[in-house]
Amino acid sequence: MATNNTLITGGAGFIGSRLAIALVAQGHQVTVLDNFSPQIHGENPGRGLLPPEVRVLRGDVRSRDDLAAALEGQTAVVHLAAETGTGQSMYEIARYSEVNVGGTAELLDLLTNTPHSVERIVIASSRAIYGEGKHQCAEHGVVYPLARAEADMAAGDFAAKCPICGVATECVPTDENSRIHPTSVYGITKQVQEQLVLTVGESLGLHAVALRYQNVYGPGQSLKNPYTGILSIFSTQLRNGGGLTVFEDGRESRDFVYVDDVVAATMRALESPAAAGLAINVGSGVRTDVSTVAHTIKELLDAPGAIEVTGNFRLGDIRDNFADMTRAREVLDFTPTVDFATGIARFIGWVQGEELAEDRFARSIDELKARGLYR
Ligand SMILES: NC(=O)c1ccc[n+]([C@@H]2O[C@H](COP(=O)([O-])OP(=O)(O)OC[C@H]3O[C@@H](n4cnc5c(N)ncnc54)[C@H](O)[C@@H]3O)[C@@H](O)[C@H]2O)c1
Repeated sequence: MATNNTLITGGAGFIGSRLAIALVAQGHQVTVLDNFSPQIHGENPGRGLLPPEVRVLRGDVRSRDDLAAALEGQTAVVHLAAETGTGQSMYEIARYSEVNVGGTAELLDLLTNTPHSVERIVIASSRAIYGEGKHQCAEHGVVYPLARAEADMAAGDFAAKCPICGVATECVPTDENSRIHPTSVYGITKQVQEQLVLTVGESLGLHAVALRYQNVYGPGQSLKNPYTGILSIFSTQLRNGGGLTVFEDGRESRDFVYVDDVVAATMRALESPAAAGLAINVGSGVRTDVSTVAHTIKELLDAPGAIEVTGNFRLGDIRDNFADMTRAREVLDFTPTVDFATGIARFIGWVQGEELAEDRFARSIDELKARGLYR
């Protein structure tokens, strides 16, 4: 790689710290700008998993001064700092917009209006921008279902429906040309972040890439944050001796991608000339339903807690989504290497060596209930 001074915003977080370690191993000078948000890191965070070679700046992406200091001498930026809870985003609308959209705008404003040495920028986008994603209707072919109707879900019908005939559809792999129509405030902020970076990146002649990460999991993910990360939430509940409540009918599914695969794809996006200007899915390309996740974690932890499928649901959640990985393969020469069975075993192995976090999930659900966002 020709350039090697890399700034990772949000680099003390789950994906960022793993990426920092990998970039240091490749000879990069890595700087992290992170505000060590207590929701993610707890009240007295140290450096987390970051090795001593990484320069750590405690600061906020909403602050122009903090960003300007962090950008000094950098040749590449990986912009990961964000608020990341889909459910929480539905009532912390100003905070999510300020950090995700405002922080990105501040970064791009600096790159446009002040001297700098940045040549490359990668933004973490999300599968959340696709909403329900790409589906197949037996009658109407490829369709993009709208957010599911509350009345249907209250009656136990959780399927995504054809927007033309209203019949249940089949989820097919979502490619990058699929319709963008997020169903949450978080998804909207990710869409705007990605469009800002690709549009301004092009106008500045930067190598700019948006990576649409699916559900990333693995060692190092926050066990304290009850607002996101289903594997962490389940493992914390079971380790605290509790049971698990699974939403809907438990057959809702996600594409779970192992963190080291995400790091590998991100490093390729920084390097690969063909990636410039593109949005690229980063997933496993495989669907796993939430009941399977719950039972696998219970088994691996050998935990006594019961698993209850409740039929409850959160407004803004999607039913199913998994990535079409063709573009990642063609443009980044990237194929995921860790399957779910291997990855979840590694994750649980790591969790068992970690301090037990307080189970705050019920409180996060109470916050949704108080605002009518949980049924
Ligand atoms: N983990 C996933 O499943 C997933 C999926 C899709 C997209 N993403 C995106 O990838 C990126 C990284 O996610 P992650 O899972 O590592 O999350 P994370 O919460 O572990 O890390 C985010 C980091 O950003 C920092 N941060 C938050 N607000 C900040 C601010 N105002 N200023 C500076 N730093 C701030 C936090 O302290 C944290 O260290 C995010 O942009 C997220 O939206 C993640």
